[in-house]
Amino acid sequence: MPNRLNDNRTELLKQIRDEVVNFKNSPLYQERIKNKVFPVIGEGSHYAKIMFIGEAPGRNEAQTGRPFCGAAGKILDELLASAGIKREDVYITNIVKDRPPFNRDPLPEEIEAYAPFLARQIEIIKPEIIATLGRFAMAYIMKRFSLENSLDSISRLHGRIFETEASYGKIKVIPLYHPAVAVYNANTKEELLQDFQTLRSGIE
Ligand code: URA
Repeated sequence: MPNRLNDNRTELLKQIRDEVVNFKNSPLYQERIKNKVFPVIGEGSHYAKIMFIGEAPGRNEAQTGRPFCGAAGKILDELLASAGIKREDVYITNIVKDRPPFNRDPLPEEIEAYAPFLARQIEIIKPEIIATLGRFAMAYIMKRFSLENSLDSISRLHGRIFETEASYGKIKVIPLYHPAVAVYNANTKEELLQDFQTLRSGIE
């Protein structure tokens, strides 16, 4: 366990927050101002063993500035509870920090614009496990951690554990379906419940 007194994770994460808040060159900044909403930086333990990475904030998230606090968040809370994982013990963020209009998929240039913030969040928190939520986070993280040769559709990769290296040591990447899909699809929810058991076993 890192010595919490001697590291400045909270300070470094606050710097990221301030930079995102002032990111006027972002392709989504004008949307944020027009809709009087907030960016969503991330939430949870700065010492989390597990980091969850979603796609981009939805309406509820942009209104509150908190990740996964709407319908998909309710499912995520259920999944965490099913695996005995406390939400406050993990860190939850997204690749894209501002809401794309009408919840459309994030564009490649939006992912590229926000990815450096996510890369820094990972370097600061140093999770042992990165659980991606949905195909955009899966593709970005697998490419970033030299797993591009294993990339395939999420229906083939979900729930598998990929061992790889981060700058700070070994990590496991576990692709998961996006919980929003489970809002309407009971089969996906069942698969997510099973995958959260795999996730649980990954931290034991
Ligand atoms: N969907 C996401 O990908 N992220 C959120 O924070 C909420 C919904």
